[in-house]
Amino acid sequence: MLSQHDMLARLDARRPDYSLDRDLYCDEGVFALDLQNIFYREWLFALPACELPKAGAFVTLQVGAYPLVVTRGNDGMIRAFHNVCRHRGQRLCAKETGTTPRLVCPYHQWTYDLDGKLIYARDMQDSFDPAQHGLKKVHCVDLGGMVFLCLAEVPPPIADLAKNLMPYLAPSGLKDAKVAHSSTIVEKGNWKLVIENNRECYHCGGSHPSLCRTYSDNPRMTAMEGPDSASPDILAHWQRCEAAGLPSRFVNHPRMQWRLARIPLLDQAESYTMNGKAAVAKRMGAMPFNDAGSLLFFHYPNTWNHFLGDHAIVFRVLPISATETQVTTHWLVHKDAVEGVDYDLENLTHVWMNTNDEDRQVVEENQKGILSPAYEPGPYSTIQEEGVIQFVDWYCSTMQERLAPQRAMAAE
Ligand code: FES
Ligand SMILES: [Fe+2]
Repeated sequence: MLSQHDMLARLDARRPDYSLDRDLYCDEGVFALDLQNIFYREWLFALPACELPKAGAFVTLQVGAYPLVVTRGNDGMIRAFHNVCRHRGQRLCAKETGTTPRLVCPYHQWTYDLDGKLIYARDMQDSFDPAQHGLKKVHCVDLGGMVFLCLAEVPPPIADLAKNLMPYLAPSGLKDAKVAHSSTIVEKGNWKLVIENNRECYHCGGSHPSLCRTYSDNPRMTAMEGPDSASPDILAHWQRCEAAGLPSRFVNHPRMQWRLARIPLLDQAESYTMNGKAAVAKRMGAMPFNDAGSLLFFHYPNTWNHFLGDHAIVFRVLPISATETQVTTHWLVHKDAVEGVDYDLENLTHVWMNTNDEDRQVVEENQKGILSPAYEPGPYSTIQEEGVIQFVDWYCSTMQERLAPQRAMAAE
């Protein structure tokens, strides 16, 4: 098991533009350091706000060692808490999702309000102060319908993301959306392999026959380095969309932790369907035309998303172990769209159900190959895999910064 010192040495010795050292994709020590330094410190995408449509709705999730619960209160606010009873530590909600007027611990029925306040604890002595035993809060923000949470005591700044994400998302209609379908799969691969695979389309032609009907695998379409590197098709698309009031140009975090860009689909396709036509008759938001393409948004370490004129698909990645990762996908449609009338669920979900399963297979085979002692880091294509290089650079530099002060202290 790699120590912090060993891991830092591997990061320092890495060859730029090459895949990572084997242990960085499977070692237990590295996994623990990834949780500690990335997942317990960064803002994580938790859920689309419309998954909590009314007061009392809750969703639970597990981030590393932390069971969490996210609720919508009677005041409409979304809040996140540690899903751990303040009596003797029972996990409070075992269900993945549900609706409840208050959170009741199944062990001795201590009862909490949706805002985390302890409102009932039977037969406690006079000296007991319920005000000191509310649920522990987790930082939580709703950025235009995308709910992020952060386990750090002091979270990193999120204002810059909020300032960019909210106007880009506004025309996509998330405030009037509902969840049409959800899927959770476990991929037997390290979380970084899941993100790496998402950040390139070098594999798309060989793996994704249904997605490739509407999604271009041209690297200049999808792995754009900046506004000036965009292809003429992209530039023309941005001009047309922005002239119609739709924010579309590539914007990104200075170190590429996140990016927003609107891309056209192939041959004026409207949606990710087998025939390229919209899957949902009742459109979302305020798209000025049906072929406005897809607004792409990723945020490291755990989400990528597509916002289309007729539906949106949001993805959450959570690490389970060094070699297992949970991927949850939600398909969002207009809240008034009726299944069987406005959309057919199979048609809506077909392309990305297939694509997720195809990606699961490549990630699992990638992990199996990396587990071989014969694996050695290989070169990324700087033409096709710029997005992977950006992710790996972000990961390595973030870890180096966070591990290095600790190394310096240990050497003293
Ligand atoms: S552990 Fe929750 S009420 Fe006892
Ligand atoms: Fe893929």
